Amino acid sequence: MNAIAMPGTVSRARTATLLACVLAALAGLMFGLDIGVISGATQLIQAEFAVPDRMIEWIVGAMMLGAAIGAAGAGWLSATLGRKRSLILSALLFVAGSLLCGLAWSPGALIGARLALGLAIGMAAFTAPLYLAEVAPEQIRGAMISTYQLMITIGIFVAFLSDLAFSYSGAWRWMLGIIAIPGALFLLGVLLLPESPRWLLLRGRREEATAVLARLRGDDAVVGREVAGIEAQLESPQHGWQLFRHNRNFRHSVGLGIALQVMQQLTGINVIMYYAPRIFASVGFGTSAQMWTTAIVGLTNLLATFIAIGLVDRLGRKPILYVGFAVMAASLGAVGTTMHLGTATHAAQMFTVSALLVFIVGFAMSAGPLVWTLCSEVQPLRGRDFGIGCSTFVNWTANMIVGATFLTLLNGIGHAATFWLYAALNLLFILVTFLWVPETRGVTLEQIERRLMAGRPLREIGR
Ligand code: BGC
Repeated sequence: MNAIAMPGTVSRARTATLLACVLAALAGLMFGLDIGVISGATQLIQAEFAVPDRMIEWIVGAMMLGAAIGAAGAGWLSATLGRKRSLILSALLFVAGSLLCGLAWSPGALIGARLALGLAIGMAAFTAPLYLAEVAPEQIRGAMISTYQLMITIGIFVAFLSDLAFSYSGAWRWMLGIIAIPGALFLLGVLLLPESPRWLLLRGRREEATAVLARLRGDDAVVGREVAGIEAQLESPQHGWQLFRHNRNFRHSVGLGIALQVMQQLTGINVIMYYAPRIFASVGFGTSAQMWTTAIVGLTNLLATFIAIGLVDRLGRKPILYVGFAVMAASLGAVGTTMHLGTATHAAQMFTVSALLVFIVGFAMSAGPLVWTLCSEVQPLRGRDFGIGCSTFVNWTANMIVGATFLTLLNGIGHAATFWLYAALNLLFILVTFLWVPETRGVTLEQIERRLMAGRPLREIGR
């Protein structure tokens, strides 16, 4: 190997890193497709199997349940099998789960298939951001992990469009089954990924780790520094659960990851993702307008993610989170107010839809991508699998709770108060961000870990 970096080698290496990140981010695409696809299929499934609402809730919820279980097991799996093989396994499950959904012969079979899909998503949702954080150099780490969120939003949007297309023929089996195709592409992609150098070093496979890093960085000096930095961390002998039990600092970072994911879900984002057509119906939209407006929600969610990708490594995480939570609080407050005053006029309807779109922009430019970014940045290497496993598990559990309580809230306290409640939560999250969230822009994972383990307050473990 050359001691001095050649410009050509460095740019080839940069391409290799980007490619690895894009491929791992495809996991996000699968995540989004599966989140988005079900909203358009439920009524058709209900008609074919003649089942009550309760069974539909099970069919919808099985995926989130599977995802929570998959995320909980993914820490162990990706530590044992490695990041790459965990992604391969999840890709295989994606393909099998999607095909089974399309072929389901009974509601029970559909529940089983959605559970398998959920397992795949939980595993991928855990492993992909972890892999990205471990492979991307720190200057572009935020943008790379935001790419993962971008893929989630593309998935949701494509699923909304495909639902719209298949809805004319009522072909729900095609809606659900067709996801096997992107699943197969994802499988092909992850087969080409290099293993994470950090995981290789964790397993004592120094030569392989150095070779992978040399390919990804193309600069021997950088590779040497990174290997030395990671090895220095690995000298502390604990990991995961043990670290959690014995190390107060690690308990803090795990707590932070969990809090971030709870905040992300309690912004209320999935209320809109799962119930958009119903919300649009409640302000007086007809069926076709509901479908199209839902597609616009998906598109807005996608486009606004670019704001985060462009700004995250320049402005930093915290300023973007402040703006995002403020925008979400204001827009949901406005939705609550129009629901309170009545949405009978065309102007009121348009205002409500616009406010909901502004809310989506607020989420997509901030908490959507940044929570995943921060969660994979704040955990120390020895406990990273465990820490991200906990926060991803909480993401799906909170997701399930938000989805399962929305209709009850609407019926219990009414439309206006429900949106006001979510608005108030978003306001609260500005304070939480100020008090506990660190600014991790441009700081190496090793520096973050050093400060965390030195017992610095959470908000100071970054810059
Ligand atoms: C969240 C999902 C949400 C999606 C919307 C993700 O970051 O974890 O729950 O459905 O963003 O784009």
